[in-house]
Amino acid sequence: MPETIYLNGRLVSPEEALIPINDRGFLFGDAVYEVIRSYDGRLWALERHLQRLAQSLGAVDMGYVDTDEIAAALRETYAASAIPDAVVYLHISRGVAPRSHAYSRDLEPTVLITVRDMSARFAAMDPAGVAAITAPDLRWRRCDIKSTNLLPNVLAKTRAREAGVYEAILVHPDGYVTEGTSTSVFWVRGGRVCTLSLGGEVLPGITRGIVLEIARDEGLPMVEERISLDEFRKADEIFLVGTTVEVYPIISLDGEPVGSGQAGPVALQLLEAFGARVQAGDDAPR
Ligand code: PDD
Repeated sequence: MPETIYLNGRLVSPEEALIPINDRGFLFGDAVYEVIRSYDGRLWALERHLQRLAQSLGAVDMGYVDTDEIAAALRETYAASAIPDAVVYLHISRGVAPRSHAYSRDLEPTVLITVRDMSARFAAMDPAGVAAITAPDLRWRRCDIKSTNLLPNVLAKTRAREAGVYEAILVHPDGYVTEGTSTSVFWVRGGRVCTLSLGGEVLPGITRGIVLEIARDEGLPMVEERISLDEFRKADEIFLVGTTVEVYPIISLDGEPVGSGQAGPVALQLLEAFGARVQAGDDAPR
């Protein structure tokens, strides 16, 4: 199925979908984005994504962007795609102006939405879990903003793929685990479901929030904590969570087995409960 594309107010063909060379998103990475998944013809967790988008826009001094208009454009573009299980990419750059670091607030933002059929990629995921490597976290101190400045992420993800593994798990210069290049990271130790607390070091993942709600509903003890890489290696379970991976067990880290070396029971329990919430359409912000 072809990609459906929305650019600056209208649906366009791939040939028409052109961005001026002076777009600040292109020149400076001066842009924010969201990645939203649909299940069976319904955009999953749309309200939560819009809330995070508003936070990102506010944090980069673009709070004037009307998120109701963006929501309408997302719905229109998704409806036009007729793709039941899609990944919707939303990208809002500050706009077009001759290259100069300082921006003005009167630029017209560039709004791009694409909808792609990702069902083959989802079908290729391995329910038995996947391997990961660790990599230094070279990013800035505002990783809570979903900005398109993803160079450290793309470099680390590519090192992971070249190593034949799924994800690179990033390690802060102070020695603790932050997140994956495009996923949140959870671990289980002492029977508790753990992840790093929110702050400038990690994205406030939509799936992270939903998985923490599920853990609470399931009566699983939880803790938000920092974990050193040494302790992380000894975790009973490690799993990724995110829009594109749901809950994905990591069974090997830097070539060593994680826990039993198989997908762990807590990850599998959370994955099943996540699937039930998707089925029920239970995604409203709490
Ligand atoms: N990435 N951490 C980072 C650095 C991410 O880029 C993402 C999402 C996540 C998971 O967040 P969520 O649950 O909201 O998807 C965590 C998207 C999918 C991407 O960049 O393609």
